[in-house]
Formats: sequence, C-alpha cells, structure tokens
Amino acid sequence: FNVPLAENEPVLSYAPGTPEREALQAQLKAYKQTEVDIPMYIGGQEVRTGNKVPIHPPHDIKHCLGYYHQGDETHVHHAIEAALTAKEKWASLSWEHRAAIFLKAADLVSGPYRQKLNAATMLGQSKNAFQAEIDAACEFADFLRFNVQYMTDIYADQPESAPGMWNRVEYRPLEGFVFALTPFNFTSIAGNLPTAPALMGNTVVWKPSKTAIYSAQVLMELFNEAGVPAGVINLVYASGPVAAKVIFDHPEFAGIHFTGSTAVFQSMWKTIGGNIEKYKSYPRIVGETGGKDFIIAHQSCDAKAVATGIVRGGFEFQGQKCSAASRVYLPASRWEEIKGHIATQMSEIKMGDPEDFSNFVNAVIDESSFDKLAGAIDHAKASQEADVIFGGNYDKSKGYFIEPTIIQTSNPQYITMKEELFGPVVTLYVYEDAKFEETMDILDKTSMYALTGAIFSQDRYAAELATKRLVNCAGNFYINDKPTGAVVGQQPFGGARGSGTNDKAGSAINLMRWVSPRTIKETF
Ligand code: ALA
Repeated sequence: FNVPLAENEPVLSYAPGTPEREALQAQLKAYKQTEVDIPMYIGGQEVRTGNKVPIHPPHDIKHCLGYYHQGDETHVHHAIEAALTAKEKWASLSWEHRAAIFLKAADLVSGPYRQKLNAATMLGQSKNAFQAEIDAACEFADFLRFNVQYMTDIYADQPESAPGMWNRVEYRPLEGFVFALTPFNFTSIAGNLPTAPALMGNTVVWKPSKTAIYSAQVLMELFNEAGVPAGVINLVYASGPVAAKVIFDHPEFAGIHFTGSTAVFQSMWKTIGGNIEKYKSYPRIVGETGGKDFIIAHQSCDAKAVATGIVRGGFEFQGQKCSAASRVYLPASRWEEIKGHIATQMSEIKMGDPEDFSNFVNAVIDESSFDKLAGAIDHAKASQEADVIFGGNYDKSKGYFIEPTIIQTSNPQYITMKEELFGPVVTLYVYEDAKFEETMDILDKTSMYALTGAIFSQDRYAAELATKRLVNCAGNFYINDKPTGAVVGQQPFGGARGSGTNDKAGSAINLMRWVSPRTIKETF
C-alpha cells in the first residue's frame, strides 16, 4: 500500500487549562500512587525473576515508583533463542505488515500512550513536561513514521534492467539477531534503537539503560499493543557486561544498535573484533556515543541569540542531551553584552521537581553523575585557570540537583573544555576578536568528539568560513541556533570521530545498516 507521507508530530503546549495538561497531571498522579512490578519480556512472555530492584525518581530519591526484575545470563540466552525462533516468520512477512504495525505504534504514541510515555519519562528520568513531549511523544512518533517512509523508499530503489533480463535487489534482513543497547536520556532513542532494525525484518534483543527501565516498560507495552509479534523485540534487564558477554559470544550476533558512552562502545567494538571469526557474518556496528558539543560566536553575532543558545542548548534536560552545548568560545568585544543576556535568562530558571511545570531544570540521572558534576564544579572553584561565574551549587539531599553552572576559563584546553561531563555545566573561553580563525583551530584540536556544534554570526562570510573550517568537528552543525533539538525528517542526527559511526538516526542511512541486499539477475 502507499504509506502516508510522514509528517512531524505537532508539539502540544501543556498551558494551564489545556486538556493535555490535565491528562498528563492525572497520569503522573496515577503513576505516583501505584508501585509497578516490571517484568522482562522474552518471546512474548512476561518473565519475573524475583530479584527485584527498586526504581526511584532522580528528583525524589525516597519515593519508590516500583521494581524491575533483574535477569542474568540465562535470560539473555533465552532472549537470543526467542529472537532466532521468531526470525523466519517475521522476515517472511511482507513489508506492508511491518509498516502497518509500526504506523499503528506511531498512532498509539500520538494518542493513548502519549501521556503514559511522557509521565514515565518525567518521573523515571527527571525530564520536564515540554522536554518529555518533544522526546517521548513527538520524536518517537516521528522516528516510527519517517522510518516507515524511508523503508519504502529503500525497497523501491531498484537497478536498471536491459532487454532480455530482469535485475532486482532484495533488501534482506541481517542473518541472525540484532542487539539494541539504549540510553536513559531519550525515550525516543530507546524506542528507535530496537524498532528500526525490527522494521527492516530483524529480530532484536533489547537491553535498556538501568536508569530508564520505567519508561522502557511503557514502550514495550506499546509495542505489544501495536501488534509486534512475540519474539521480535525481547526486553531483558541484565547488567551490561553480562548481556554483552553472552551476546558477543553468539555466532548469530548480526549487529548492534547503540547509544551511550564512548568508553563502552569502544570496549564492545574490541570484544566484537576479538570474536570476529566466530560470527556467520561481519556484524553491523552502529553507535552514537559521547560529545563535547560547542558554540562559537563571531564578533558579528546577535548577543541575545548566543545567550539563548548557551542557556537552552546547555541546560535543557540538565545538559544531558548528547547534543548539549558544553564548551563555548566568545569574542572579547561582545562578552559583556552576552554575559548580561545570560544573567537575565539564568535568573529566570527554576530548578526542582518536574511535576511542578514551572521548573525548567530537574535532577541529573543518578548519584554517579551527580558526583562527577559536583567534582568538576569543585575543581573549577579551586583552579587558578577557572572561575564559576554562574550557579555552582549542588545538593543531593532530596534528589540529584546540580544548579545550572557556567565556568569561565582562561585556558581553552582546561579539563572541562575537553572532557564530557553530561550535565548542566558549561565552560566558556573568551578569545580576542582578531583570533577567530586561531580559536577555531584550537576548538578543532581540543576534543576527541564531533557530535554537534554551532556558529553564531551575522556576517555570512564568517559563518561560511566556520562551516568550512570546522568541517570535521560536528555531524550536526547549526548556524545561528543552539546545537540541540534535531528533528526527525529535518536534521538527520549523528556524529563522527569519538562521537559515533554517524549512521544518522531516523534516516535511510541508518535503515540501510539493518539490511543485507541481495542482487538478483534473471535472464529471459
Ligand atoms: N535529537 C536530539 C537532539 O538533537 C538528540 O538534541
């Protein structure tokens, strides 16, 4: 059938008095009142091990949202077997059926599951209502709808045939199973990583981050309701090393779809490399990893726009977007003006529980993240090369709260200009206006990452110069906008260097990684 042309899901406002706000508040209340018991889902069956691990909101660590059942090696083996058992039937189903299932999933996201996904993301990952809406509702619905459209484009792409022959390409799924290892920071990504390979006819073992199991179980419920057959997506809660050991040892391991840290990705790549002779096929390795995303402003910039880029790009969702701005280069002649705008915007930021919709900033994900960020702030406070010029407070008595913080450094190679912190801490360096090009060279060489970046400039020549000069510094590059907020179907997302394999999420490039095309020539 002709699938409908994908359109981006409209973002709802959640203004006081709107039906969506009432529905979301009711869902939050319901989730707060009931402790949920979260099983794994293997081969279409709920699996409870009795080894129960409590889940607490990062902003309210004394509250218990429920428990998940921790699995072990045996469950990972079972998940692989279930994926392999389901594979043949799933792969032989025509693409129209797979499209119908995932388009139904998208409609469930837009409709009846919208507030479940939003509320679970707000409570489990400490995300405010707007950030949850653009992630769990809109971006996830977009991934599903656009992927279906890209899939049909891929299948339609056929070679020329000459008289007397028929050439065709069959886009087969990979031989074996795919492993999806998903992050805490976007519910949409947690949903996309298992569904994109499944859409292309693969079956999947899915292990979510242990800090996002609360929303993962809502995703799984949704997949079941949409009609994803038993065994196509198998959800396991084993520890990362346990799951990795079993999966990377398996001869039918066909690929990994990953979003997470650079260190974990590199270590898994080494393991896969070490096992390469065991596998039937060369596994597809697709990963989006760390970042040290930048903003650089030229002296011609709009000062207020730069300040907004820093505050929104650096502090939305507590700076825990892989795309978040975390190092900033500003021209000396404009610094005081930009600083004034930052001060105004920072004074309007409220921090606290996401259930209070006026809070822009909530808690960071867990204690180890809190400790790392607090340590970086303390380091800056004690350093000769750095000053904390905004924020700098932190408190974990109720939840993991780190105040949005800006460090100014006199050393463009200062540790927090280089290393990823993954939190609401931005470091900035003020350069002499005449050293714009030199500063770009420093920017290029300072960090191992290349995920997102932005240039602010009203001078088109300077903007173009930066676009060319910083060619390898970001997979997503923004001119006069913050480096976050890529929209599926509009800005394909992914980074290079230490930031990943750049197989753009939500694009035909990504889906092509989950097929192994067979060329067929028939002679009449
Ligand atoms: N789509 C997310 C962003 O660009 C990752 O911020």
